[in-house]
Amino acid sequence: MSEKQNAQNNSEHSIVAKNWWKEGVVYQIYPRSFKDSNGDGIGDLQGIISKLDYIQSLGVDIVWLNPIFASPNDDNGYDVSDYCAIMPEFGTMNDFDLLLSGLHERNIKLVIDGVFNHSSDEHIWFKESRSSRTNKYRNYYHWWPAEKGKPHHRFSFFDENNDAWKYDELTDAYYLHYFSAKQPDLNWENPQLRQEIYKIMRFWLDKGVDGFRLDVISFISKDVSFPPIPEIYNNDFPRYYANGPHLHQYLQEMNKEVFSNYNCMTVGECVAVDINDALQFVDSESKALNMFFHFDSVDYGYKKNEFKQPDPNGWKLTGFKEIFSKWNDVFADNGWGSIYLGNHDQPRMVSRWGNDSPEYREASSKMLLTFLLTMRSTPYIYMGDEIGMRNIRFNAIEDYRDIDTLKNYHQIKNTNGDVDYFMEGQKATARDNARTPFQWNEKEHAGFTDGEPWIKLNPDWEFVNAALQETMEDSVLNYFRKILKLRKQFPELIYGKYELLEKENEEVYAYTRILNDEKILVVLNFSKTNAPFSIPENIGLPGEVLINNLKEIIFHKSVIELLPYQAAVIRLL
Ligand code: NOJ
Repeated sequence: MSEKQNAQNNSEHSIVAKNWWKEGVVYQIYPRSFKDSNGDGIGDLQGIISKLDYIQSLGVDIVWLNPIFASPNDDNGYDVSDYCAIMPEFGTMNDFDLLLSGLHERNIKLVIDGVFNHSSDEHIWFKESRSSRTNKYRNYYHWWPAEKGKPHHRFSFFDENNDAWKYDELTDAYYLHYFSAKQPDLNWENPQLRQEIYKIMRFWLDKGVDGFRLDVISFISKDVSFPPIPEIYNNDFPRYYANGPHLHQYLQEMNKEVFSNYNCMTVGECVAVDINDALQFVDSESKALNMFFHFDSVDYGYKKNEFKQPDPNGWKLTGFKEIFSKWNDVFADNGWGSIYLGNHDQPRMVSRWGNDSPEYREASSKMLLTFLLTMRSTPYIYMGDEIGMRNIRFNAIEDYRDIDTLKNYHQIKNTNGDVDYFMEGQKATARDNARTPFQWNEKEHAGFTDGEPWIKLNPDWEFVNAALQETMEDSVLNYFRKILKLRKQFPELIYGKYELLEKENEEVYAYTRILNDEKILVVLNFSKTNAPFSIPENIGLPGEVLINNLKEIIFHKSVIELLPYQAAVIRLL
C-alpha cells in the first residue's frame, strides 16, 4: 500500500501515514562522555546502563548511540575496525545486550550509528586491501595506481593538506579518504562490498536494534573514473560528493535488502543535500530512508570556508525561520523531517542559538526545547541539552581532543595563518564544546567518573547539573519532561499542519499547528528584550496556556507581552 493510501486508511487526522518514528522523541548519547562506570575516565556501556532510569524519566522513546564499535579512535569511533565487535573501552557484547534489553524493558528503542562511507585503516578489509593489488579485498576501497599519475584533487575534511588521496608505497598507489587518512572510503560501487555491509546491518537488526543513523550516507557513491570536479560544483566538494552517480540506487537497494524486512527506522546524515532533492531520499515512493539530517540550519551564520568560523554578521531570526519553514514545507504532504539544534558535531544548542549567560541560560534553553518539541518533524535532543549545558570555550589547543580542531590548528599554524582568530572561532564552533562530560551532580568531575576524564569538564558543573535540577520544580530538566509530555498529549504537535506567522518579525518566532479543528499557537521570543506579539484576529482567540517557560505570562487581550526568551504554547479558540 502506498504511503498516501495507508494514510487515508489509518488516520482520520493526518494526511501522512503514522509511524512510531514520527511520533517518537530521540535522545542522542555520545557514549564517551555520558557516564564512566570503571574509572578509566571514558564513558561506557555499563555507565549508560546505570542511567537507564534517568533516560526513561525523560520520557524519550528512542536512543541514538554514537558509534560503539571496535575502533582505534582517530575520530572517536567514526573509524571502525570491526563492525560486529564492541570497542573494549566501552565494554563487551554482553554489556551491549544488557543495554538493549534494559532499553526495551523500558519501552525505549535503540538506534545505532552505521559508519559505512568509510572504515578504519585498521579494519581487516583495509589491511588486506592494501597488501597487494590482487588481493581479493582490493576493490573494497578506492585505489588509484601511481603509474597513472596523481589523481585529480579530492578534498579531505581531516587531512592537514586537505588532500583526500594518500600515497601508499606498498603497492605504489593512492587510496581515497574523504575524512582522515585513517578513514579510507569504502567502495560502494563494488556489489560484494555492499553485500558485506547489508550483512552487518542484519547482524545488528537481528540482535534487536531498532534502526540506524547512517553516517555521511550522502557520500557513498563515487564516479570511480575520478574526473576533475565539474565546474557546476564551483569547487564545492561536499555538494559534489553528495551527488554520486548511484547514490539513490544504493539507498533503495539497502532498503530492499535490509530495512524493508524489519520494523526499523533509518535516518541518514545527508551532508550537502539540497532541499530540491529532499523527497528523493524519503518520500513514500522512493523506498530509501525514513528521515535525514540536513545542514542548512546548523551551517547558518557561519562563514563559508574550510573550518567553521562564525560569520561576524551573525544570524537573523528571519533567516532561521525561513530555513525551518522551508524544510517543513518540503515534507508537508510526503516524506518526513528530522529536527535538531545540536549534536556531537555542533556546539551546544544554548550557546549557539540561545543565550548562555547566567541570566538567560535557563529561559533560552527551555525556549529552544519548546521549539524542537513543537515542530512537525522528529525531534533529536542531544544529551546535556535537557539540562542546558553550555560551550566550554577552551583557550588552549592542548585542551582540545577533536581531530577536526587539531588538524585545522596545525594547518593554520604551518601556513602562518591567523591562529588566534581560529582559536577564538573555535570557542563558538568546535565540536568539543558538545563533547565535554555530562554533568550529573555537584561532586568531583560532576559524577561522570572516578578517574581522570578524557576531556576536561565544563567548570560550570556546580550549578549546571542533573541532580540539582531534579530538586528544582522549574529547572530546564523538569521543563523538558513537561514539554515532551505535551507533545505526546497533543497529536496536533506531531502531525498538525505548520503555519508560520509574522515571517518578518526579528524577535518572535510564532507558528500554529493545526489538526482537524484543533489549533495550537507556539510563540518563542528569541531575543533578550521584551517583545509583544499580537495574535492575529483571523486565527483565533487565546485559550488555555498549555505551557510557559517563565513564572508568568502577560496578556493584554490578544497581545502577549513576551519577556526575554519567553516561550509559550497556547490553545486557540
Ligand atoms: C559525521 C560524524 O557525525 C562525525 O562525527 C564524523 O567525524 C564524520 N561523519 C566522519 O565519520
